[in-house]
Amino acid sequence: MKIITLIGSPHGLKGNTAKLTQIVLEGAESEGATSEIISLTGKNILPCKGCDMCHKKGICPQDDEFESIKKKIIEADCLILASPNYIFSVSAQMKAFMDRCCGVLHCLGFEGKYGASIVTSGGGDEEPIADYMNHFLIITGVRPVGSVWAAMGNIGEIFPDEIRTNALNLGKKLVLSCKNKITCEETETRINKFKDRMRYLMQWKKQEWTFEYEYWKKHHNLE
Ligand SMILES: Cc1cc2nc3c(=O)[nH]c(=O)nc-3n(C[C@H](O)[C@H](O)[C@H](O)COP(=O)(O)O)c2cc1C
Repeated sequence: MKIITLIGSPHGLKGNTAKLTQIVLEGAESEGATSEIISLTGKNILPCKGCDMCHKKGICPQDDEFESIKKKIIEADCLILASPNYIFSVSAQMKAFMDRCCGVLHCLGFEGKYGASIVTSGGGDEEPIADYMNHFLIITGVRPVGSVWAAMGNIGEIFPDEIRTNALNLGKKLVLSCKNKITCEETETRINKFKDRMRYLMQWKKQEWTFEYEYWKKHHNLE
């Protein structure tokens, strides 16, 4: 079982978010998963230009590393999103990646995968950001199993036991949920609700967004 983790911090693998992520991955690896961390800061991910080519052709025309990261996620079983709190939201690096996934979410192109979210902050307000990243996972078809966060202002070099336990358990839960294909009613309802919305959109836009219409016919039984 393979996990791809995207870290949105400009501090890359040396920051607080990466440190908390390492504990989640320790938990996941103790249940047999393998993982690859991708620091978005070390990658060239340009902002979305809103050209609609992903809807029409299935691929972004911008010459950067987005498509290769998308391919890695599609080939993996799980996706973890990890971001620092930047002014009550995700970092710009993470948001650029999310925006570039507009075509993915129209197709629920990561369907069947499991996921989780990780946030660190200076002083708080992590939960809405974790919820936002988990909502993003849902609209791409990923089943989020939970999230973990830490306000770093009062934390020294070592995470308190409670946060460490939460992080380890999140990693374990991710792998076990994926292995056993565990579903929860609320998540299935949210995914299906968004899927219904996209089905309607595809029928409306079928002349224009030909790639996505064909994708829906092939993968989601669109008439
Ligand atoms: C531009 C910027 C904006 C930030 N905004 C917030 C914020 O709104 N609330 C907060 O509690 N911490 C905020 N922080 C602090 C970071 O979220 C915190 O230091 C985080 O743990 C950094 O993670 P990293 O080391 O992985 O980059 C901000 C930091 C920066 C640089």
